[in-house]
Amino acid sequence: MPLVTLKQILDEAAKGGYGVGAFNVNNMEQIQGIFKAAQELESPLIIQASFNAVKYAGLKFLQHLMKAATETYPDVPVALHLDHGPDFDRCKTCIELGFTSVMIDGSLDYSSKEKKKPARSFEDNVAVTKQVVDYSHQFGVSVEGELGTLGGIEDEASAQKVMLTDPEQANAFVEQTGVDALAVAIGTSHGAYKFKEKPIIDIERVKTIHEKIPNTPLVMHGSSSVPMELTEKLNTFIVVSKGKDDEGGPYIDFLGKKYYIDQDYSIARDMVYDLFFKNRLKKTMGVPIESIQMGIRNGVRKINVDTDGRLMVTTAILEVLYSQPEKFDPRDYLEPSREAIYNMVKGKILAFGSAGRSKDYKPKSLKRMKKVYEK
Ligand code: G3H
Ligand code: 13P
Ligand code: ZN
Repeated sequence: MPLVTLKQILDEAAKGGYGVGAFNVNNMEQIQGIFKAAQELESPLIIQASFNAVKYAGLKFLQHLMKAATETYPDVPVALHLDHGPDFDRCKTCIELGFTSVMIDGSLDYSSKEKKKPARSFEDNVAVTKQVVDYSHQFGVSVEGELGTLGGIEDEASAQKVMLTDPEQANAFVEQTGVDALAVAIGTSHGAYKFKEKPIIDIERVKTIHEKIPNTPLVMHGSSSVPMELTEKLNTFIVVSKGKDDEGGPYIDFLGKKYYIDQDYSIARDMVYDLFFKNRLKKTMGVPIESIQMGIRNGVRKINVDTDGRLMVTTAILEVLYSQPEKFDPRDYLEPSREAIYNMVKGKILAFGSAGRSKDYKPKSLKRMKKVYEK
């Protein structure tokens, strides 16, 4: 099956009332794990690469990995999508490379030298998004736009306040740009640290936006659930811990061996401890699956997941390296990482309702989609 467009995948999802997972990839194992899950559950799929991923893997490598995947898993209708395209030129590069869909993230000005990227005005967002839409549709390629700012990667926005999507503006934005899908800011954010206590997702806002633009599939970014059992598991792979023996003598446990330390060295001990621990995950909460399902019932069709995959991969690799420190063949830890992604994606496909939908429709070629836009 050839790559299909995002528009077709999301329009079909809207007809069927389900959501489709959009999974970020950077390497071969992720791609293989995700495709295997989609094939097995007969689900359509969106594979997305950020421009950072394109830079990491290399343009040609990513292109050919995708080609290999579509040949190996011919029954999976899949859109190859650019995630958070920062500007027109980079969207164009990806289209030339064979992506069937691009996101132009016009909500922020990525050209700014500031670390905290300033939010773009509505007018500027419309202008750059329309430029990408006009270009992409000539080739049948779909476009996702974004209105509002999310937290996470985008809370670097200079205003420092998250701007939730205004439903009236969403209507005007879609009319003026012609985007095929719209990413909305409803309280989610990117990365592992989304909510400290209780997730607050503005489902009412999703509902209102959907009422205003019922024919535009909505996209939920920052949709990783960051499951507590996973972060807890990740935190068990402890290289160093500190403790006290029965007599109160302090020690550092380094990979299961106790090193006793004189009280005088407590500063050094704490320093070593901090050194090994500062990157472990703090307590955090992600987006509950039930909130995503509520979103799906109210017009969300594309659900972006990157962080959960990253956590899965890292946990799987650490588990091998920690329990079998003698292993040094990359296959010994990359194979479990591929399996972990596969299991995660299976779970998401079932939760989003896209299982069993891959044979519902015939894929439309880019040529055909081009005609659709010409009408
Ligand atoms: O939303 C952004 C994605 O998680 C991609 O992140 O630019 O580090 O690849 P990245
Ligand atoms: P997470 O960081 O929640 O996985 O979100 C990913 C995303 O929105 C990619 O565009
Ligand atoms: Zn995103």
